[in-house]
Amino acid sequence: MTKAVRVHKVGGPEVLTYEEVEVGPPGNGEVRIRQHAVGLNFIDVYFRTGLYKAPGLPFIAGNEAAGEVLAVGPGVTNFHPGDRVAYYYNLGGYASERVIPADKLVKLPDHITYEQGAVLMLKGLTVWYLLHKTFKVEQGHRVLIHAAAGGIGLLACQWARALGAHVIGTVGSKAKADLALANGCDHVILYNEENFVERVKQISRGELCDVVYDGVGKTTFPGSLSCLRPRGLFVSFGNASGPVPPFPLAELNNHGSLFATRPKLNDYVGTRKELLEGADTLFAAVINGKLHVPINHAYALKDAAKAHVDLESRATTGAAILRP
Ligand SMILES: NC(=O)c1ccc[n+]([C@@H]2O[C@H](COP(=O)([O-])OP(=O)(O)OC[C@H]3O[C@@H](n4cnc5c(N)ncnc54)[C@H](OP(=O)(O)O)[C@@H]3O)[C@@H](O)[C@H]2O)c1
Repeated sequence: MTKAVRVHKVGGPEVLTYEEVEVGPPGNGEVRIRQHAVGLNFIDVYFRTGLYKAPGLPFIAGNEAAGEVLAVGPGVTNFHPGDRVAYYYNLGGYASERVIPADKLVKLPDHITYEQGAVLMLKGLTVWYLLHKTFKVEQGHRVLIHAAAGGIGLLACQWARALGAHVIGTVGSKAKADLALANGCDHVILYNEENFVERVKQISRGELCDVVYDGVGKTTFPGSLSCLRPRGLFVSFGNASGPVPPFPLAELNNHGSLFATRPKLNDYVGTRKELLEGADTLFAAVINGKLHVPINHAYALKDAAKAHVDLESRATTGAAILRP
C-alpha cells in the first residue's frame, strides 16, 4: 500500500483525502517509482473543482513529480532501479509511489534536485513551449506576462528576459511586484489597483506588445487584447480567475488583425522527441544559471488541502511542492 491524495467527489479543498491505495507492479513498458517531491499546479485545482473533467472518480490528483525508479516492467530497457527521474503525466501525481509509462519519464541530470525536477516538468516545460514554440521570443520583443510572480510567471519572466525580451508583468501585490522585478521583469503593474491596459500603453509609448501570455483568463479579458500591437499574438493558456468568455472572432479584427491561441502542454510534448527536446533545453537553462527555480513553499503530502487553499487565495509565489 502507498499513501495518496484522492478526490472522491469534486469540490473545495476539503475533498482532497489522504488515504492508502494499492499500487500494482509495473506492466509492459511501465516503471514503478518512489516519489520524493510532487509539483503543485493550478491545473490540480481545476480537476478538483470539476472545471476540467477527470476520466472518473475517485482519482488521485496531480500531474508532475520526481523520484527514483523502484522497479521496471517487461520491455523497459532505458530505465533501471535507482535512476533519478521526473515526469509530467496524467492524474496520479499526489502519491508516495506510482506506476507510469517509461516513455513519459526523463532522467534528472545530477545537478537538478528532486524538488526542481518536480516543478520543472509541468511548469518549466510549459514555459519552454510558450516562449520557444507558441511564440518564439527573441531580442527586442515586448512581452506581457500576467500573474508574473506565480509558478509559471517567475520562470517565464526570467526566461523571456534571458532571451532578450522587454518584459512587462502584472501582479496582485507590492511584495509580488518586488519578486517579479527580481526575476526578470523590466516593469511591473499592480493590476488590482492600476488599469493594466493604460499602463502598458504608457510603458510601451503606445507601441504595445508583440505577445501577451495570459494564464489569468476571465479578469484580464478583453484587456489583454488591447495590449497587443497589430498582428500581435494573444496566448490564453489558463483560467486562474475563471475561463475567458466566448467572444466574436471579429474582436481580433477590431483589435488589429490579432492572432489568438489556447495552447496546452500535451500538444507540445506529445512525442518522445519533443519531450526530450523540451527537457534538455530546460535542464540546460537551469544548469547554466539562466533559470533559477524559485521553490517558495513546501507542504507535506497529507496537507495538500492547505496547499490548495494557499494557491487559490493567491497566497503563494513561485513554485510549491508536496513532500510524500
Ligand atoms: N496551458 C498549459 O499548457 C498550462 C500549463 C501549466 C499551467 N497553465 C496555467 O498557468 C496558470 C498559472 O499556473 P500556476 O500553477 O503557475 O499558478 P500560479 O501562477 O502560481 O497561481 C495563479 C496566480 O494567478 C493569479 N490570479 C489572478 N486572479 C486570480 C484568481 N481569481 N484566483 C486565483 N489566482 C488568481 C494570482 O497571482 P496574483 O495575485 O499576482 O494575481 C495567483 O497567484 C494557470 O492558469 C494554469 O492553469 C497552463
